[in-house]
Amino acid sequence: MPHNSDLQRGAFRSKFGFLMAAIGSAVGLGNIWGFPYKMGTNGGFAFLIVYLFLVALVGFVILIVELSLGRTTGKGAIGSYMELSRRFKWLGWLAFLSAFFIMTFYSVLGGYCIRYAVANFGNLIGASFGTGQTDAGNFFASFISNQSASIIYTLVFMIITAGIVMKGVSGGIESFSKTAMPLLFVMLLVVVIRSVTLPGAVEGLRFMFKPNLEPFKTNFFKVLSTASGQMFFSLSLAMGAMITYGSYLQKTDNIVRDAVLIPAADTFIAILAGMAVLPAAFALGGEGAAMAGPKLLFITLQHVFESMGSTGPLFGLIFYILVIIAALTSAISLVEVITAFFLDAADARGKKANRKLTAALVSLSIMLVAVVVAADGLGSTGFPAIMGYIWLDFLDLLSEGIMMPLGALLTAVFISFEYGLPKIAAEVKLGNSRFASYSFFAFSLKFVVPAVLLLVLYGQLKGFGLLG
Ligand code: TRP
Repeated sequence: MPHNSDLQRGAFRSKFGFLMAAIGSAVGLGNIWGFPYKMGTNGGFAFLIVYLFLVALVGFVILIVELSLGRTTGKGAIGSYMELSRRFKWLGWLAFLSAFFIMTFYSVLGGYCIRYAVANFGNLIGASFGTGQTDAGNFFASFISNQSASIIYTLVFMIITAGIVMKGVSGGIESFSKTAMPLLFVMLLVVVIRSVTLPGAVEGLRFMFKPNLEPFKTNFFKVLSTASGQMFFSLSLAMGAMITYGSYLQKTDNIVRDAVLIPAADTFIAILAGMAVLPAAFALGGEGAAMAGPKLLFITLQHVFESMGSTGPLFGLIFYILVIIAALTSAISLVEVITAFFLDAADARGKKANRKLTAALVSLSIMLVAVVVAADGLGSTGFPAIMGYIWLDFLDLLSEGIMMPLGALLTAVFISFEYGLPKIAAEVKLGNSRFASYSFFAFSLKFVVPAVLLLVLYGQLKGFGLLG
């Protein structure tokens, strides 16, 4: 197996390291920022139920496909499709571009989280870089419209990310994830315990867990399409990440087990993040506060920390550090998707690839676009809009909104009609001779996955106002 021992390309040193890195890739801003706010605006429990079904029916299936494609070729997304397909050779490019576009705004949000950790630390020690007397809403507004500060924090986030990827798969990504992920988990538990014991928090738990299917009556399709978009994003699907990670697996590894463990851990963390955020929002201002949308993490929650009294800044600091960890472990895997492509390409031309230089250049090109997104400050700085959108929304629409569901749909078509399920089954069976879930897998890939994806695509286009 030359590809698994290839030093430039790298490999994971341990099974635990691989799992932490793969779970770290999946657990990101999607879980801790996206999941709670989308749950808040989509009826709580109703959203949760739909989400769980989607993870089991769709996420599990696509994950098996991606991990086994990557392991079959030992290459990243682009190399894999080039090698395996005739009609869909270019499909990896879609993944590659999505990863790039996502990073251009992900790094800006990551930068915001660093600012918030710094602000809470400032509040803790009474320093001038805290939020001071400013209320949470004004603090956010004045930070995002401060272009130089936003750009600096974005660059800090990108430099840390680049530094980890430059150190390689086992020395950088794996070692960072092995320490950071367990730490994230413990910190999240601390914040959950604080949040659910706030006065009035029980309502938030009820909102999340008490069966209530009322929201379906008015809004079933919105709940379904939001939940599916969220599921794809949160599991890092259709962006080449899991193909790239699959390329680092050993033939004896059990792909089915990984395809169960990764979504299970990702979903568990998302639910815990919901329990950290929603009950706190309820304690502050009831259901109205929980429905704040994207600002939930940066305004509502900061408000909660400020109203907690003297321990507030400490919990705030812990919380935003854990969000930074989540964002970093995802960002490194997005950068790795792009970096691995160039390493593979050099390899194919018989050249010796330079990981450090490649990762640095990839990060630099992401920074060039990210600077514009940061300067745009969510449209607050009078920066020119792009096709009528603020920059972050535009890049999000391109990647998460269109390229990702389209890519996943085409992957399902490719597997069902060109590649064939038996080859996937054969690859999986190398490490799991029974593959007991095969009929479920095949049924879902052929019927459920395409149906759900068409729906997501429709919902996204409509949500972005492209279908009138
Ligand atoms: N899953 C990550 C999150 O929940 C973000 C993400 C989306 C991602 N696609 C990805 C991470 C691809 C790595 C690779 O925030």
